[in-house]
Amino acid sequence: MRSLSILGLLLISLNSHAAPLSPPAQRGEAFFHQRFAVNDKMPACTACHTDNPLKPGQHAITGKTIQPLAVSANGERFSDPAKVEKWFGRNCKEVVGRACTADEKADFVAYMREVR
Ligand code: HEC
Repeated sequence: MRSLSILGLLLISLNSHAAPLSPPAQRGEAFFHQRFAVNDKMPACTACHTDNPLKPGQHAITGKTIQPLAVSANGERFSDPAKVEKWFGRNCKEVVGRACTADEKADFVAYMREVR
C-alpha cells in the first residue's frame, strides 16, 4: 500500500515534467535552435517552425501556416521519406548553407519524435 502511493507520487511528478530527451534528441534540439549566419530572413529552423515544435509555425516569407513538426502534435510527420528528404534538402540549404549531414538529420528526427 505504502509503496503504491509512493509510486503514484513518482508518476505524478514524472508526468508534470517533460520526459528527458535522449542524447541524440538533445543534439537535435540544439540544432533546431542554432543560429546560422547564412540567411538574414531565416537564421534558424525556428524562423518558420517557431521555438516550439509542438506549435504550428509560420513561413518567414510567405506567412503561410506550417503544421507542427513534432510527431506528438502531428502524426503525419516523418512518415514519408521522400517528403522528409525534400524538405531537409531545401531548408538545410537555405538556413545552414549546405546539405545537413546524416547525423544532423537523424538527431533532428529523434528530437521531433521524442518532444512532447
Ligand atoms: C523558410 C521557412 C522554413 C525554414 C527556415 C525551415 N523550414 Fe522546415 N519546412 C518548411 C515548410 C514550408 C515545410 C513543408 C510544409 C509542411 O510540411 O508543413 C517544412 C517541412 C520540413 C520538414 C518535413 C517534415 C515532415 O516529415 O513532414 C523537415 C524535416 C524540415 N522542415 C526541417 C527543417 C530544418 C532542419 C530546418 C532548419 C535547418 C527548417 N526545416 C527550416 C519551412 C521552413
